Amino acid sequence: MKKLIKISVLAVLASTFVMAPATASETEKVFKFYCAQCHGLTGKGDGPNVTKDFPVSPRNFTSAAEMDKLTDADLKNVILDGGPSVSKSPMMPPWGKTLTPEQVDGLVKHLRVLCKCKGKQG
Ligand code: HEC
Repeated sequence: MKKLIKISVLAVLASTFVMAPATASETEKVFKFYCAQCHGLTGKGDGPNVTKDFPVSPRNFTSAAEMDKLTDADLKNVILDGGPSVSKSPMMPPWGKTLTPEQVDGLVKHLRVLCKCKGKQG
């Protein structure tokens, strides 16, 4: 039994290191793992980490009005380099060292699905 558990843990680990273009379901996993604790499972900015002491609210990804102010390049930059890189709060961490470029591109697409918007063009 122990051996079986070990093997499945290894399989899970191995699968996270395979560098393939991020599929939609893979992106959902990445989002749940790294983003949902602040931005919420459905992206409304209401994750379990957010208390009333949070100085700023995590962006509500379902707000097309808010998300249309940002280009896809803006989203990518803030995901890679964190809030301060775009003069926003350091409560938004940088992910450039944690996520692969494919995962970041997948997340940008995922955010556009959540807001049902195309974003600012340019
Ligand atoms: C520790 C909490 C936390 C986590 C985890 C987190 N964020 Fe954020 N995020 C924030 C906060 C707070 C803001 C709002 C910053 C502001 O408005 O100053 C934000 C803002 C954003 C914005 C909008 C930036 C803008 O210019 O308006 C994007 C896009 C974003 N986060 C994407 C992500 C993605 C993708 C992940 C997962 C890889 C993630 N965040 C994980 C807290 C977090």
